[in-house]
Amino acid sequence: MRIILLGAPGAGKGTQAQFIMEKYGIPQISTGDMLRAAIKAGTPLGMEAKKVMDAGQLVSDDIIIGLVKERIAQEDCKGGFLLDGFPRTIPQAEAMVENGVAVDHVIEIDVPDENIVARMSGRRVHPGSGRTYHVTFNAPKVEGKDDVTGEDLVIRADDEESTVRKRLGVYHAQTKPLVDFYTAAAARGDNQYHKMDGTKVVADVSAEIAVLLG
Ligand code: AP5
Ligand code: ZN
Repeated sequence: MRIILLGAPGAGKGTQAQFIMEKYGIPQISTGDMLRAAIKAGTPLGMEAKKVMDAGQLVSDDIIIGLVKERIAQEDCKGGFLLDGFPRTIPQAEAMVENGVAVDHVIEIDVPDENIVARMSGRRVHPGSGRTYHVTFNAPKVEGKDDVTGEDLVIRADDEESTVRKRLGVYHAQTKPLVDFYTAAAARGDNQYHKMDGTKVVADVSAEIAVLLG
């Protein structure tokens, strides 16, 4: 099964990716997590990406397309994969088509902008795995600690309110056009398109995703 999760910053892509990955046993490909790992490792790509991410802008299509191409070619992606945060521009989506990478399901998680800032201000992440929590909406078992490893949770560098607002602007300008792109593809029978109400509680959104994926 090949799935794309589409949605604004903070819509819950990473949260639902965790659920889908565990339930269906397919790897999550999060371009955001890959870039954060490169930053942590101090690679040239990471150093370049950090400036762009901290400004709430998008990393260049060429870099991202190269990263994803390499990742999808790996053995564990043969049985399917879950794309979280990619594609997020029309050229990225076109690159998938050009490379013959078809998808079965595009799942849009829809959350209005006014809900997003509150979500981001309470987000806590486990840097090693990308597991994501919220201080009130999705609290870890022990405050400030990852459920699986017990390691410390951190606040993401780009979750400051002014940066979140910039990221929302970039989402509407550059990523939202993918809704039409994949709706049109669905009309041609290339993929299925599902729009989910992402304002429901985490478990309800997961339950609805499980119904549509079967
Ligand atoms: P990326 O890491 O992909 O960030 P994003 O798309 O902005 O999305 P987020 O990770 O912020 O949100 P999410 O939808 O995963 O929500 P989450 O589940 O965490 O990208 C970061 C940066 O990298 C970009 O800005 C860009 O610079 C660069 N980049 C990445 N991919 C790129 C690409 N393809 N091209 C170019 N540049 C790229 O949930 C958020 C919070 O809400 C959490 O606290 C969570 O617990 C809580 N929550 C989740 N669901 C619910 C719910 N139903 N109810 C209440 N709270 C909830
Ligand atoms: Zn995410």
